Amino acid sequence: MPQQVKAVVARSKGAPVTVETINVPDPGPGEAVVQVQACGVCHTDLHYREGGINDDFPFLLGHEASGVVEAVGEGVTGLEPGDFVVLNWRAVCGSCRACLRGEPWYCFATFNATQKMTLEDGTELSPALGIGAFAEKTLVAAGQCTKVDPSARPAAVGLLGCGVMAGLGAAINTGNVTRGKSVAVIGCGGVGAAAVAGSVLAGAGTVIAVDIDDRKLEGARSMGATHTVNSTTQDPVEAIQALTGGHGADVVIDAVGRPETWKQGFYARDLAGTLVLVGVPTPEMRIPDIPLIDVFGRGGSLKSSWYGDCLPTRDFPLLVDLYQQGRLDLDAFVTEEIGIDGVEAAFDKMHDGNVLRSVVVF
Ligand SMILES: NC(=O)c1ccc[n+]([C@@H]2O[C@H](COP(=O)([O-])OP(=O)(O)OC[C@H]3O[C@@H](n4cnc5c(N)ncnc54)[C@H](O)[C@@H]3O)[C@@H](O)[C@H]2O)c1
Ligand SMILES: [Zn+2]
Ligand SMILES: [Zn+2]
Repeated sequence: MPQQVKAVVARSKGAPVTVETINVPDPGPGEAVVQVQACGVCHTDLHYREGGINDDFPFLLGHEASGVVEAVGEGVTGLEPGDFVVLNWRAVCGSCRACLRGEPWYCFATFNATQKMTLEDGTELSPALGIGAFAEKTLVAAGQCTKVDPSARPAAVGLLGCGVMAGLGAAINTGNVTRGKSVAVIGCGGVGAAAVAGSVLAGAGTVIAVDIDDRKLEGARSMGATHTVNSTTQDPVEAIQALTGGHGADVVIDAVGRPETWKQGFYARDLAGTLVLVGVPTPEMRIPDIPLIDVFGRGGSLKSSWYGDCLPTRDFPLLVDLYQQGRLDLDAFVTEEIGIDGVEAAFDKMHDGNVLRSVVVF
């Protein structure tokens, strides 16, 4: 029997989100219904609401979540009702070119549930990143559920489902930050702060946090940044060079995703350094005008980081264990716990720079 639950919906471009009753079908083959316990408010939800991702309104928002499996469909193995899971938005297929060559974190054919959740009148919803977890219950592909230690705090570990994993992975997986490397992170919201934490976890030496907001810089320092740069008062490229013996950082992570921050990152690298783009640009943005000879002459690599190049089955349980051992402070990312009716206010707070993450708890 399909169930009716409350959920947060973006009906049209730029309009405030509303709490609506939605229909959640029983899980079909390969699917699972999850009773959501916590779901963080990510900048990407706001991108959806503003029409910056695509025009497939109405969207069912929310995508960094944890919860308990309520029911699984036919053919699902390794997942049972009662399992505590973190949801992921890149369920790997196992058979595409990337998966077959042993790089499943790049999977080119990730999948979601086949059935649709709908509004009460039957209008099909587009779940954000194939999840839609600002909802008491949501329907996902079973592969989107990764089992983790059930004694962990849902609001903290749910954040691994998107922004925090993207940031940690941008540093550890994509940027290949290792012991002693120098790192600069541009933009220290949830994603950037996690990139700082990931760099520290990986043993980086110098970790420079750059933002336009001093409160975010303070937060980054508490995550282990060794230096901070406010790029409204200092040129970030010069400041990063000055803090790295005049050379630039081995790895620069752009967690904003704008032409100007990417260009700063490009020039703030040491020779043969790596630039990681983890912030998501909008479709009208263009690569800044950079002499091609600079791309050649400076060497190194320019990379993008999809979801921190994570492999949920490998990374989520490991990171939850580090959290449980007190070695990764996921609680520090949870600025506030809010109710399901608090998402629009959380978007405002995100704009005002007041929070790392507001987390809806059910
Ligand atoms: N690649 C992925 O898989 C992935 C996953 C999740 C989120 N994201 C993206 O990462 C980006 C950051 O997300 P978030 O949740 O941390 O957002 P956020 O709004 O919490 O943080 C953005 C931060 O950037 C700072 N900032 C803005 N303009 C700046 C500038 N010119 N220079 C320096 N700092 C600046 C802000 O002050 C803020 O601290 C978004 O674009 C989001 O869509 C990417
Ligand atoms: Zn694949
Ligand atoms: Zn997200």
